[in-house]
Amino acid sequence: MSESLLTYSLCAAAKLLSPGRIDSLRDAMNAARDETLNDVELWQSGAPVPAEKQPLDAGFIQWPEELLDDLQRAQSTSLVGRLESCAKRLQAAADSLVVLGIGGSYMGMRAMFEALRTPFWNEQSRAVRREIPRIYFDGWNVDTDQQSALLSLLNDRAAAFPDSVEGKTAVIVISKSGGTLETAVAFRTFRELLERRFGSDAVNLIVPVTGESGRLRSLSSASGSPDVFSIPDGIGGRFSVLTSVGLLPAAAAGMNIRALLQGAADMTQHFRTAPFESNVVLQYVAVCHAFEIDHGMTCRILSTWGSKLEAVGLWYDQLLSESLGKHERGAMPLTVVNTRDLHSRGQQHQEGRRDKLITNLLPGQPLSPPLTVPEHALDDDRLNQLAGTPFPRILQAAVDGTNQAYADDKRPTADIALPALTEHALGQLFQMLMLATVVEGRLVGTNPYGQPGVEAYKKNMQANLGLK
Ligand code: PA5
Repeated sequence: MSESLLTYSLCAAAKLLSPGRIDSLRDAMNAARDETLNDVELWQSGAPVPAEKQPLDAGFIQWPEELLDDLQRAQSTSLVGRLESCAKRLQAAADSLVVLGIGGSYMGMRAMFEALRTPFWNEQSRAVRREIPRIYFDGWNVDTDQQSALLSLLNDRAAAFPDSVEGKTAVIVISKSGGTLETAVAFRTFRELLERRFGSDAVNLIVPVTGESGRLRSLSSASGSPDVFSIPDGIGGRFSVLTSVGLLPAAAAGMNIRALLQGAADMTQHFRTAPFESNVVLQYVAVCHAFEIDHGMTCRILSTWGSKLEAVGLWYDQLLSESLGKHERGAMPLTVVNTRDLHSRGQQHQEGRRDKLITNLLPGQPLSPPLTVPEHALDDDRLNQLAGTPFPRILQAAVDGTNQAYADDKRPTADIALPALTEHALGQLFQMLMLATVVEGRLVGTNPYGQPGVEAYKKNMQANLGLK
């Protein structure tokens, strides 16, 4: 294990559960962990999967370790090596990169981009970005204004810099099924732009990431894409952030994908070996479960302290909703950003229905040197008393004050604390929350894999358009 692990702690909320309640879940939680891990063996063995376990997408659990082993063995010809070299090729070829995808084929990369890059990344010069492209997301909606705005921006850039990398756009198009309409339609429009602007070079600027078969796979073969990356069977969309789905765009955005994988592998190792009392995955699930069963707390609020983690929260909203929102059951996830949302949802969390468990997601120390409150001759705002106070101290006062206010009213909170906002920490967090979701599914008897409910709208949408 290379860096420290994130921590999970139950703040004053511990007192709100009956004594020994979490301990009483030890056997059930250990059994859910065993089942989660045995599923990996079942899936790897190729033996028939019992009907009640289908689909079984347990491949994400050992995947980070497998990729790191492969890297160790095969270096530049390993999958990680090939992803890194494709990312370098794209960085050298284009200054704008559009990532197309929806749901599990989009939200993980968005989460990494917002967490690990500055909010004004795309406004910085190429030199300040260290020749790493600007990053845009599309294909996650059917929104004329949004897509037109991006298409004209890229078109204008191509016109302004006809012979230089600054005018070039590359596209990573991601769809496991290869047939999701929103992404497929967006791909057509962006491909059309690339072909019109860059002619025969367009094919080199497009990298598909897709399943072993399907329409996008066929299209990629027909168009002769030089690089196509596969999304492995046995890893479902919302569990695929650490496959090429997230790793290729992350590497193209200059992120350290080896550290991401290492963080996830460290979390898997911790999950496998740590006893129930100190196992962050099992403790998190036990607490969420106990509050849901004993106190009817069916709303899980992920309270992110800082806007850089908002998209991680949205990724988790999708993970929990699609995995456990089945059979008229499953907690309702909601991401908030504080202190912003203390001025909107905060009232409801403090005095509304007692159906909420609040988990704070704490990002650790800021990456930039802490700002401090400046002193000023004009002190009518009475802020000179705070002159010199670092912003992190003000934020901590808000965190503590909020937790205290909830505790005083017997409203539970818990903390997930990241050591820092790094690739390694984010890899841990992704893997922790994916494992927790599967463990909870096994605990309550809901298959966490598959999302049959999402298919209904897709079928109707296609029928409404007369598509075959
Ligand atoms: O978790 C899932 O499987 C879904 O959210 C999918 O990721 C989403 O529907 C996109 O599917 P695809 O990658 O096939 O375009």
